[in-house]
Amino acid sequence: MLHLDDDLLIGRGLHRACYRHPRDPALCIKVVHNGDQTESQREQAYYRHLQGRLTDWSLLPRFHGVCTTDRGPGAVFDRVRDADGSTSVSLEACLTTPATLDRYRQALPAALAQLRAYLLRHGVLTMTIKPRNIALQRSDNGSALRCVIFDNIGCADWIPLALYSRRFARRKILRRWQRFEARLLAEHPEAFRPAQDNSRSPRHTPAPLFHLPARKAAAKDTTTDAARAPSTRPGAVPSRRS
Ligand SMILES: Nc1ncnc2c1ncn2[C@@H]1O[C@H](COP(=O)(O)OP(=O)(O)O)[C@@H](O)[C@H]1O
Ligand SMILES: [Mg+2]
Repeated sequence: MLHLDDDLLIGRGLHRACYRHPRDPALCIKVVHNGDQTESQREQAYYRHLQGRLTDWSLLPRFHGVCTTDRGPGAVFDRVRDADGSTSVSLEACLTTPATLDRYRQALPAALAQLRAYLLRHGVLTMTIKPRNIALQRSDNGSALRCVIFDNIGCADWIPLALYSRRFARRKILRRWQRFEARLLAEHPEAFRPAQDNSRSPRHTPAPLFHLPARKAAAKDTTTDAARAPSTRPGAVPSRRS
């Protein structure tokens, strides 16, 4: 049985607490601290589905099975780490901490666009996409930034057509992403605004909001779906999940 010391705690979500693995710095262990194992089991079933077909795990931590801990059953995943070994910060922490935002701001839109393209390319399903469930993984100097999604993966539909139909999967991913993007821009406009141009007169109209280059970057494989996808409401009710 693994002993999970408080010192190993990385963070807590609504349902699970995540600890560094006591024996392997590349891994983390999630244990339920609130509720039952239902969501973890659903997530693990989706991971088993993915393990049969996904070859590129660059933006999704791998699942390594379950273990026994002194805090209950643990689910073992890759720990999202920066090049210096520290646990990567979440997008939420970045957006709410001005100093961190300043450091990541420039690379953020392209990293988000890359995550969107990844989900679409590989048909990786998500439920509500939230900034707190995305880690910003950076290389040593921060020049290369990756958005890694680590929670709310999969599909909770009664009839999960998206698991078996690429077309359904792409439509679902686009819908989720559009809601996420709309919420990001509504709640954190400052993060996606171009830097102030002080050389212009004060009466100069401020530049329009920066648009995530997602659609442009992934235009090749999403234009048709975007056109087909039903319209979405930015304020759509978020899922129960964390
Ligand atoms: N793979 C991971 N690598 C690094 N940190 C993680 C990883 N997964 C989760 N975390 C951290 O643990 C916290 C809780 O995990 P999460 O899976 O979001 O739990 P919940 O399902 O309760 O929302 C996250 O907010 C994050 O700080
Ligand atoms: Mg979470």
